[in-house]
Amino acid sequence: MEAPPIVPTSALGSNVGKRVTLRGWLYARRSSGKIHFIELRDGFGIASCVAGKKDITPEEFEAADKVTQESAIEVTGDVKEHPKKPGVYEVVLASFKLLAPTAGEYPISPKEHGTDFLMDHRHLWLRSKRQHAIMRVRHTIIGAIRDFFDDGGFTLIDAPVFTPNACEGTSTLFETDYHGEKAYLTQSGQLYMEAAAAAFGKAYCFGPTFRAEKSKTRRHLAEFWMVEPEVAFMDLEGDMELAQGLLCAIVDRVLDKRREELKIIERDVTKLENVKAPFPRIHYDEAVKILNEHRAAKREEGAAKGDAEMAATPDFPWGEDFGAEDETVISNRYDRPVMVHHYPAAIKAFYMKRDLTDPRGVACCVDVLAPEGYGEVIGGGQREDDLDTLLKAIDHHKLPMSAFEWYLDLRRYGSFPHAGFGLGIERSVAWICGLSHVRETIPFPRMMNRLSP
Ligand code: 4AD
Ligand code: MG
Repeated sequence: MEAPPIVPTSALGSNVGKRVTLRGWLYARRSSGKIHFIELRDGFGIASCVAGKKDITPEEFEAADKVTQESAIEVTGDVKEHPKKPGVYEVVLASFKLLAPTAGEYPISPKEHGTDFLMDHRHLWLRSKRQHAIMRVRHTIIGAIRDFFDDGGFTLIDAPVFTPNACEGTSTLFETDYHGEKAYLTQSGQLYMEAAAAAFGKAYCFGPTFRAEKSKTRRHLAEFWMVEPEVAFMDLEGDMELAQGLLCAIVDRVLDKRREELKIIERDVTKLENVKAPFPRIHYDEAVKILNEHRAAKREEGAAKGDAEMAATPDFPWGEDFGAEDETVISNRYDRPVMVHHYPAAIKAFYMKRDLTDPRGVACCVDVLAPEGYGEVIGGGQREDDLDTLLKAIDHHKLPMSAFEWYLDLRRYGSFPHAGFGLGIERSVAWICGLSHVRETIPFPRMMNRLSP
């Protein structure tokens, strides 16, 4: 007789009535004396297996009784569909084999563990149902992003990781010794994408980026993944349109393909279903107005309660950057992502295009704030294409001119209006999955106080 085919647990549906072999790890087990109920996990799903005393050898039955959580196992049995629950399968075992036992008890048991413990065991924690679901959503988000740009006529141009200059301010650079020269881990591939936009019209990069921020917030990683499109002859309007299209494509894809996973994560999908174009677009001034309405209400509430500190809540000063709390106040006004444009140039990077129609000095830029308080997921805008203005900005930011000579060439040889943005993958995964902290959105997080596993 031919050996039964080895199939993944995700293929049980197409093998009903057939004998198959499954390989994986013991996820859970319980016994009722004469029957062992075994859950086999193989990375594709979890299969419920039943092993009756009469159906397998006494040695196998004994082995299945002693098998510990996360031992590697191989089983062979007949696939049945639940008589009342279509789509629910069970494998009635004809054989059970222990491939590799665990060296003592598996560290992550079904009981509650603290976050630090789980993070220390991230290499094992990834096997759990919830982490598995989050990573599959992440995978789907990345697939949606690639398809969006590939189908939109973009060319993928990889940016370097070692760079001679800063892109997003010198305070968050990771410095390395590059054969005796100073080099930095890239904060953003943007400057290279500007070169690519002139060469390819529409380009994007997608890779890891690094920030040495000394911040231990729920939103900051030292190493995170960013996708950065850049388009020649596109302005801020076009940039916002592109960002909106990308976010809609991501949400649509996840709702289409990952309902099961969102259920495991207990995500309220109705919130995601609201994410439809058009997204509100508000000027920085309007965002400040929203904050000040909120603060005025706080003052009133403070006065009514006799809370002196609350009653003295100051107005938000025009010109400052928004903090995480401010972003939440702004985004709480809307049921979908909100695009805040035209921030004061002084709080933004050197490359931002100045809006010459506003004497206060604002930039043609946009931040997209996710709903439900998940904060900024996209930052971008139009780039300064005037050589003299850019020279002054580099000078003003005290950046080393020599490192930017190549970048200035893009303005010397056929300068062109162009725009782009960066979308942070982990912040996007946190929002889509409804996670309060970015540490669970990346397989192996790198944070200020974590470099392992
Ligand atoms: O707003 P940022 O700093 O923009 C740039 O780097 C631009 N050069 C991108 C461009 O225009 N091509 O970063 C863009 C996004 C943020 O909106 C956020 O989602 C994410 O990257 N991000 C971080 N994610 C996790 N941890 C951090 N420390 C992050 N810093 C930025
Ligand atoms: Mg930003």
